Amino acid sequence: MKFLSLFLFALLAATATAKSLNCYESGTSQVCTSGKCFSQEEENDIVGGKSGEKYSLQSCLPSCKELNIKLTFGEKKYFRAATKCCDTDNCNTIPAVPSADAKNSNLECPACFAFSSTYCEATVIKCPESENQCVNITGKLSDASGIKSFYGRGCTTPAAKNITIGDAIATNKDSWLEIAGISMEKATGSSWSVRGSFTVTLLSGLIGIQLTNFFY
Ligand SMILES: *[C@@H]1O[C@H](CO)[C@@H](O)[C@H](O)[C@H]1NC(C)=O
Ligand SMILES: *[C@@H]1O[C@H](CO)[C@@H](O)[C@H](O)[C@H]1NC(C)=O
Repeated sequence: MKFLSLFLFALLAATATAKSLNCYESGTSQVCTSGKCFSQEEENDIVGGKSGEKYSLQSCLPSCKELNIKLTFGEKKYFRAATKCCDTDNCNTIPAVPSADAKNSNLECPACFAFSSTYCEATVIKCPESENQCVNITGKLSDASGIKSFYGRGCTTPAAKNITIGDAIATNKDSWLEIAGISMEKATGSSWSVRGSFTVTLLSGLIGIQLTNFFY
């Protein structure tokens, strides 16, 4: 018995040692007791951001996910973000927010963005070169004034297939955006109607678990 508990103790100690991880938190290396190192950079001009103004953060999170997001909801209406999730000491350097495309393609999508609505009146736009998918996206923006839902349609990149319900992106020190639903289809040149080769529809669901730890 005594031997067993000694053995268990040694095992636990070994596990604890193996798991010790340091992550940057706001630029300073800190011990991350449970989870992974996380960092992100974000830029938008629709949910409280200003065009060209980037917001970044570094943290230790119980769970995280790498994303590379580019969304265009209209002429000069965009949301872009990159997140990094890793588990070696101080690996969470800030990723570069995906850059804007220099040119538009001939592909088109209906685009609009609205708060507190499940609908918005779309106008067809030409998509930025790398954004060859049409997207419908819903979610919530939480900030000091409360929580409001949003609905957006527009163009995005194939990498948006990685976005799932509950994914959260901080947009400022105390505001974040959380995805409740997303559907995509391939953009077409002349018409944005049903010729999609890829469609994924995720209905609005429960909230991800990583939010509570987002800013700590
Ligand atoms: C989705 O994320 C994974 C892991 O980060 C990445 O390897 C993959 O390329 C992404 N998918 C797309 C379509 O970009
Ligand atoms: C977006 O929603 C509209 C209206 O419900 C629908 O007609 C369209 O096919 C959807 N587009 C995508 C990419 O899911």
